[in-house]
Amino acid sequence: MNRPLSDISPEAFATPLLAWYDSHGRDLPWRKRWPELADPYHVFLSELMLQQTVVATVIPYFEEFRTRWPNIHALATASEEEVLQKWAGLGYYARARNMHKAAKVISQDYKGQFPKDEASLLALPGIGPYTAAAIQAFAFDQNAIVLDGNVERVLARYLGDKTALPALKQHLRAAYPRLAPTSRHSDFAQAIMDLGAQICIPKAPRCELCPLRSHCLMADDEVAASLPVKAPKKIKPKRTGVVFVATTQGQALLETRPDKGLLAGMKAFPTAGWESKDALPGALDDAPLQANWRLLNHQVRHVFTHFELTLQIYHAETSPSEDMMPYQWQDPDEAGLPTVFAKVWKIIKQNDLTKRSCD
Ligand code: ADE
Repeated sequence: MNRPLSDISPEAFATPLLAWYDSHGRDLPWRKRWPELADPYHVFLSELMLQQTVVATVIPYFEEFRTRWPNIHALATASEEEVLQKWAGLGYYARARNMHKAAKVISQDYKGQFPKDEASLLALPGIGPYTAAAIQAFAFDQNAIVLDGNVERVLARYLGDKTALPALKQHLRAAYPRLAPTSRHSDFAQAIMDLGAQICIPKAPRCELCPLRSHCLMADDEVAASLPVKAPKKIKPKRTGVVFVATTQGQALLETRPDKGLLAGMKAFPTAGWESKDALPGALDDAPLQANWRLLNHQVRHVFTHFELTLQIYHAETSPSEDMMPYQWQDPDEAGLPTVFAKVWKIIKQNDLTKRSCD
C-alpha cells in the first residue's frame, strides 16, 4: 500500500464523503438515511439480489418481492417454486434457494427478528462476510467492514494500492476502520458505493467532481482506471448442447429441472448434452417427442459461473397432446424461465415460430 495507515483519517475521507452523500446519494427503495435505519428484511432481499447484478436491474425485482412477500414470515412460507419464478432473470439461482432457506431459519428460529451479530448471520444459508456486514451496517448501524466491488475500487484508488485482488482485500480491511466515521455507519458504506457508481467509476473516473480529490493518491492519475488490479482471469471451459422447443398455440413444452444441480427446480425447455464436463454435445435422438424438428440458424450463448455454453436450437410445431408427463405445456412468458432459456424463447418469438398450430 502506498499510503501509510498512520496517514489515513476519517476527517479526510468519511467527512467529505458523507457531506457529498447528503446531496448526491441515491434514493433507493431499500435504503433509509441515518438516523433512520433500513428494515433488515429489505437489506437482506436487496443485497442478495445485488450480488452480480446492477442496481437498475434489481429495483423492479425488489419491489415485486416486497409487494408479494412483505416480511420475512411471508417469504418463509412461500413455495420455493414461486420464489424461483419471481427470481427468474437475476441468475445464480442457488442464491434464491439459499435466500428462501435463510428466511425460514429467521422466521422460525429467530421468530422473524434478524440476528445482529456476525457469527449468527454467517451461519445462515447463503450469507457470506459481505452480506453479513451489509446487514449489520445498513440495518443496525454497526461499524462493520462492507467491502464489495465498488468499495474496493474507491478504496484501492484513494489509498493508491496497486496490490492485485484478492490480496488487496486484506489491506483494505486493515485501512477501513481508520477511514470510517464514528457515527452514521449505515450511511458510510452506501456513500462509498454511490461514489463508486457515479464518480469513481471503473473506466474513466470523474476526479474533477470527487469530494475526495484533494486526498486521493490516484486523483487525476491515468493509472487510476486500472485499479483495483484484478486477479488473473480464469478461462472458462466451453460446453455445447441442444435445446428442444416444441410449440403449439403459443405454448411450449417445458420441464421442471431436477432438485439438484444446474438451474435446480427451475422451469426449462428440454435439453441434452451440456450438463456435465464430459457430456457429448447432444443430438436430435435426445428429443422429448417425435416431431418434425428443425435446426434453427441461431444459437444461444450463455456464461455460467464455471463454463460457457452454446446451445443449438431445435424447434417443432406440434399438435397439443394432453399427457406429456413429466413435461407440461405452458406459456414460457409466464413460467419464470432462467435467463439462458429466456434467450432461447426470445429467438423463437423473434422468428415468429410460436403462433401457428400444426394439424
Ligand atoms: N450495491 C450493493 N449494495 C448496494 C447498496 N446498498 N446501495 C447501492 N449499491 C449497492
